[in-house]
Parts: sequence; structure tokens; C-alpha cells
Amino acid sequence: MNTPSSKSLINQDQNISLWRKFFLSMATAALLIFFWTIGSFKQDPFITETLSIQGEALSGSKLFKINCVGCHGISAQGFVGPDLHEATQDMSDKKIVNQVIRGLTPPMPSFEIEPESMADLLAYMHSLN
Ligand code: HEC
Repeated sequence: MNTPSSKSLINQDQNISLWRKFFLSMATAALLIFFWTIGSFKQDPFITETLSIQGEALSGSKLFKINCVGCHGISAQGFVGPDLHEATQDMSDKKIVNQVIRGLTPPMPSFEIEPESMADLLAYMHSLN
């Protein structure tokens, strides 16, 4: 029999399953955000490898002359791009690696580079100050 009270029971059931869906999707979203946050805190393996290598400033300076002088000047004194003599004091090595491989700040391009070469470039930049 369809009495008014049994009707309202059915509606309540539907409401509950709507809320259940809502909370389930919120929980899923929260989980996704959680894992995404953890992922972004995990250090990039390229950076980890680069920072574990002791670079050579001399070969770094050669790489610099080939790839970077057009914008940063023949002795890194600055041109289109900024002077890099203080770069290793102003920013962490990790940030410098990011700067070189990610192309985050156009017009500076991103470079596809081996960790060894990146370590050499870092050594060169450290030798500047
Ligand atoms: C096409 C021009 C260009 C080339 C080539 C280039 N850069 Fe840059 N670079 C820039 C510009 C412009 C900036 C400033 C970006 C900004 O912060 O707005 C910059 C910023 C930087 C910074 C950050 C400096 C600071 O104080 O914020 C570093 C480090 C750097 N470059 C290193 C390099 C290295 C190493 C190379 C070669 C592998 C290179 N760049 C090649 C244009 C260039």
C-alpha cells in the first residue's frame, strides 16, 4: 500500500544514497589531492642524480659557451638573461637545475641535458662566485 508515510520513507532512502554518492566523491577527490601532493614533494630523479654527481667546472664552462652565452654573456655577466655570477648564492642548485631543464621562464628555453653535463654546468656556475 502506498500510504504517505511509506512514500516519505522512499524519499529518505534516495536522499541517503545521494549523500552517500556525494561523500564518496568528496573522499575520492581528497585522496587524489593527497597523492598528488605527495607526488609533487617527491624529488625529481633527474635532480637527485644530478646533485649526486661531482661536476667539472672546465667542461661546464665549455657547455656554457655552447648553450648559454648567447643570452647570459660570454663570461656570464648578463645580456638578455641575468648575470649568473651570484646565481648559486641566490638560488639552490635544485632551482638552477629546474631553471635549465624545465623552461619555466621564457624566453629561456628548456634544455635536454645529461645529468653529468648538468652537474658540470653547476660546477661552472659555482666557480663564478
Ligand atoms: C634564449 C636566451 C637564454 C638562453 C639560451 C639561456 N638563458 Fe638562462 N635565462 C634567460 C632569461 C631571459 C632569464 C631570466 C628569466 C626570468 O627569471 O624571467 C634566465 C635565467 C636563468 C637563470 C636564473 C638566474 C636568476 O638569477 O634568476 C639561470 C640559473 C640560468 N638562466 C641559467 C642558464 C644556463 C645554465 C643556460 C645554458 C644551459 C641558459 N640559462 C641559457 C635566457 C636564456
